[in-house]
Amino acid sequence: MRIPPLDLGPLLLRPWRDEDVDAVLAGQGRDPASRLWAGGGALDTREDAVALVDRLRTEENRASWAVVDAATGELLGSVTVHSIDLRQGDAQVGYWTAAPARGRGVAPRAVDAACRWVFGTLAVDRIGLCHAVENATSGRVAEKAGFTLEGRLRRSFRYGDGVKHDELLWSRLSDDPAPALG
Ligand SMILES: CC(C)(COP(=O)(O)OP(=O)(O)OC[C@H]1O[C@@H](n2cnc3c(N)ncnc32)[C@H](O)[C@@H]1OP(=O)(O)O)[C@@H](O)C(=O)NCCC(=O)NCCS
Repeated sequence: MRIPPLDLGPLLLRPWRDEDVDAVLAGQGRDPASRLWAGGGALDTREDAVALVDRLRTEENRASWAVVDAATGELLGSVTVHSIDLRQGDAQVGYWTAAPARGRGVAPRAVDAACRWVFGTLAVDRIGLCHAVENATSGRVAEKAGFTLEGRLRRSFRYGDGVKHDELLWSRLSDDPAPALG
């Protein structure tokens, strides 16, 4: 899938590049919160990060962007619409923000932009979002990015601590109102 850059003013969502590998290892693989909650399997070595960036770029059923500071080019995070199923018209979204960039609304803006691109480009009219009940900051991202809480999935996903956690399930539909992101 050809992923275009998305210009959000101070933030730029752009396709992944080879040179992102070390920042991905630092931002996702070495960060305790991302290791616990971001999912997607072990990210312990540079080789794991090379393989991950490769998958993000090439897997057909996902649209993934590096979220960077438009002024400096610094990698601030990641947003991926994955499990895209064009027959059902649905998909899932996942994301992380590097620790120094947290608390500035990076993830909600990135998630909103990724959803808008998917709804406007692909035959998808529902995007789901799941997070562990204990990961309340991720719930804030869902709410701010225009998702509606649908319910609790019991013991539904094994996170980085090896334990299956209950999750909260949210969704955004293509015709839901756009969030006011300030
Ligand atoms: C969840 C996460 C993506 C939020 O990203 P973000 O870009 O910081 O999002 P926001 O700026 O909107 O902050 C969301 C909430 O984080 C909390 N927060 C604020 N500043 C923070 C900081 N410096 N560090 C950590 N959390 C902070 C607040 O509760 C905030 O909600 P609020 O706006 O009601 O105050 C980020 O914390 C992260 O990468 N966590 C680890 C990976 C993860 O959980 N991914 C999602 C898996 S489902």
